Amino acid sequence: MNTPICDFVNEYCEKKAVRLHMPGHKGKTVIGPEALDITEIGGADVLYEKDSTGIIAQSERNAAGIFGTAKTLYSTEGSSLCIRTMLYLVKMYAMQKRRETGLQFVEEADYVKDRRQQEKHTVTRRVCIAAGRNAHKTFITAAALMDLDVIWMYSDQPGLVSCELSPERIEAYIQETQPDAVYITSPDYLGNIADIRGIAEVCRRHKTLLLVDNAHGAYLKFIPGKDSLSLHPADLGADLCCDSAHKTLPVLTGGAYLHISENSPEFFRAQAEHAIKIFASTSPSYLILQSLDRANQLIADGFDTEIRETAARAEHLKEKLKEAGYCLTGMEVLKITIDAAAYGYSGEELAQILEAHSIYSEFYDPEYLVLMISPGNTSADLDELERVLKSIRRRSNIHTRAPRLKPGEVAMRPQEAMLYPGEEISIEEAEGRILASADVACPPAIPIVVCGERISRSAIECFRYYGIHSIHVIK
Ligand SMILES: Cc1ncc(COP(=O)(O)O)c(C=O)c1O
Repeated sequence: MNTPICDFVNEYCEKKAVRLHMPGHKGKTVIGPEALDITEIGGADVLYEKDSTGIIAQSERNAAGIFGTAKTLYSTEGSSLCIRTMLYLVKMYAMQKRRETGLQFVEEADYVKDRRQQEKHTVTRRVCIAAGRNAHKTFITAAALMDLDVIWMYSDQPGLVSCELSPERIEAYIQETQPDAVYITSPDYLGNIADIRGIAEVCRRHKTLLLVDNAHGAYLKFIPGKDSLSLHPADLGADLCCDSAHKTLPVLTGGAYLHISENSPEFFRAQAEHAIKIFASTSPSYLILQSLDRANQLIADGFDTEIRETAARAEHLKEKLKEAGYCLTGMEVLKITIDAAAYGYSGEELAQILEAHSIYSEFYDPEYLVLMISPGNTSADLDELERVLKSIRRRSNIHTRAPRLKPGEVAMRPQEAMLYPGEEISIEEAEGRILASADVACPPAIPIVVCGERISRSAIECFRYYGIHSIHVIK
């Protein structure tokens, strides 16, 4: 597979040109990659104003070919940019439909305290999205920016990070609230994967769009599913999805894809570029673009096979850890999610033990420790991980588990709450106050309370459990 962006930049470097353009380092080494770090010079194309015969369009077509999508756009600003774009596209599309059907659209709904009333208002008047409550904070800020209403879908599970929603449960939410789109985070931070095929069937039946935050799952394209091409949401019926290529593929941090699948409305293909450039920087990183470009070639040259081989190695390691008494959770093949509490430790304690052996994890919370594996990890890495984990003595099970997130009382719209000047207070004094900020500790960047919601006693319990001591509330 060709690498038009990398080839262009390499040729430019070979010319030893006089760089009278940005960036200011002029290609001179400061930390290392500066020579390759160019800007939109003649021939380098413009990421979101691209020429269909230019190097970026060619490279994106290569990516679309690999992922089997109708269109794939590059992001050099992570999945976060793609999430904003997906919501904007949904709003544009829904508004277009309302215009076509002559449905009255009221910009400012009465925001009543009764949740059911509020939902009724949103379903009849405003564009709204039904989202799993474990959505990344970018979803909340994007919905606020786009003035979209959100209907939160809850699961029966405890904890903040996962939100298991069956197709049947989602169908019930759709029937009750008639959203314009359903938004699912899959895989989640703990490696749980939703039944995207089943959810897509429900959405199709109800003519509801399906958006998937697949930030953690770009590599699922290369993992065969039971009865489908792959486990990737674009193959399973999602209309739009975002992949943080940088999280699981050999791509620099920031590199991501916005995928528009074959079965999605033509409208998205036509409007995607217009939508993404509303939110994107006008200075995309050419280092990240080259990295995305090179990833196409790596995948075509066998990285997909390496992923499957690594998945087999990870599965083997998981078996050995289970034999040693560890309890593992999650279905993602390249994540090892250890139920640390069941082994008698907090996730943080296990992470600290690993760090003492120079092994750094992706995420931990009071219950879980998450380790992410890729073909970049050697067999020696996995052997060392196994050795250290097996050397940890099992203790008695910790029974305290995460509290369940309960629907919060909405006091004002998130977009309104975010615009209030706030003050930082201790969670112990927070009961009854209204959360002002959408900002949360990262990772997993899932808010315990959504801005605009009143802080309840059960939310305070949750803050305590996750070690959050102060929050930003409306003054
Ligand atoms: C589930 C989920 N969605 C979206 C994002 C944002 O992705 P990015 O960092 O690529 O912008 C993250 C980041 O960790 C995430 O975990």
